[in-house]
Amino acid sequence: MKTIDSLGDLTGKKVLVRSDLNVPLDGTTITDDGRVRASVPTIQKLLDAGAAVIVTAHLGRPGGEPKPEYSLAPAAARLAEVLGRPVTLAKDLVGDSAKETVAALESGQVAMLENVRYDKRETSKVDEERAELAKELAAFADVFVSDGFGVVHRKQASVYDVAQILPAAAGLLVQKEVESLSRATTNPERPYAVVLGGSKVSDKLGVIGNLLTKADRLLIGGGMVFTFLAAKGYSVGSSLLEQDQIDTVKGYLATAEENGVEIVLPTDIEVADKFAADAEHKTVAADAIPEGWMGLDIGPESAALFASKIADAKTIVWNGPMGVFEFEAFEGGTRGVAQAMIDADGFSVVGGGDSAAAVRRLGYDEGGFSHISTGGGASLELLEGKVLPGLAVLED
Ligand code: 3PG
Repeated sequence: MKTIDSLGDLTGKKVLVRSDLNVPLDGTTITDDGRVRASVPTIQKLLDAGAAVIVTAHLGRPGGEPKPEYSLAPAAARLAEVLGRPVTLAKDLVGDSAKETVAALESGQVAMLENVRYDKRETSKVDEERAELAKELAAFADVFVSDGFGVVHRKQASVYDVAQILPAAAGLLVQKEVESLSRATTNPERPYAVVLGGSKVSDKLGVIGNLLTKADRLLIGGGMVFTFLAAKGYSVGSSLLEQDQIDTVKGYLATAEENGVEIVLPTDIEVADKFAADAEHKTVAADAIPEGWMGLDIGPESAALFASKIADAKTIVWNGPMGVFEFEAFEGGTRGVAQAMIDADGFSVVGGGDSAAAVRRLGYDEGGFSHISTGGGASLELLEGKVLPGLAVLED
């Protein structure tokens, strides 16, 4: 994969940087600035090298037209704070404001273009349409640095097509993400334990299939666990259940046995009488979830069991919370896994999305993990063993 150093002397050059600044917002307040902070090392390196930096990024899915609630303004403001220098936000993506902003940009300065998904060509399935937008973006710069790890699984104009027009390289974040996730997926040190959670089995089919040939232990929690429990013939009350995935899960259980992969399921469940922070709740055995109750977390015995399976693993990957950690009563399982990963000596990777958000929200020191990914879908697709278009295009 080409790195920034392959781009040569950047003094006086304009560099277009694709970052992933898709941060969660409450109104205009960023509730988790992890992605903004993760974008800084590359931008700083380019500025130190004497370049002018033009950041392009998306926020949410505005559907190809400008919508003020999807403005990158909060991300630009936060980036300016973290960088400690101004970030000029253009009012559009490739229009007059962007052109003026870029023309006025000097070495050591940072500008940001408005949400790249305000333009429907960004996500178009028609190659020519994406290429057209990529050409307009490329006209702003001398070189392109791809640093939005969270979007490298997307074949989009600002991720894929622009890298075919300008000299292109991976930024420091993309490099670090790929190195860390590859270490966990290619010849991992064993035992290799993977903890999977999140609400749906159907979101993780490819990952589970691939891990059944790679991992030594697969620990299952989160909403998806109830489909596993149902596949074992247990009743799951009113817990989240994907009835149409039960046969698939039965197939997984059989394959795991054939391959010698240990599937670790919870032995107890924290059940609630409703989906609410103040629900009445109790711990029950995993094979005795009462009618009318829903499982919202793995129980304390399971958290201890999972911790014991993580403790001696040499490689640990975690994707997806163990329960509804947003409600205090149901955060125990997710806390148990996070703490066990911190305590373990093995190489520990937190997949992005909800598990990364959980780690930060529950107040854990990010330094306690070997790597916390900024990618949700992108890190899952790497775990699936897929070729990601935004990475393939950066190959030497
Ligand atoms: C993410 O949030 O996972 C990335 O920013 C990609 O966003 P997308 O799923 O809307 O492409």
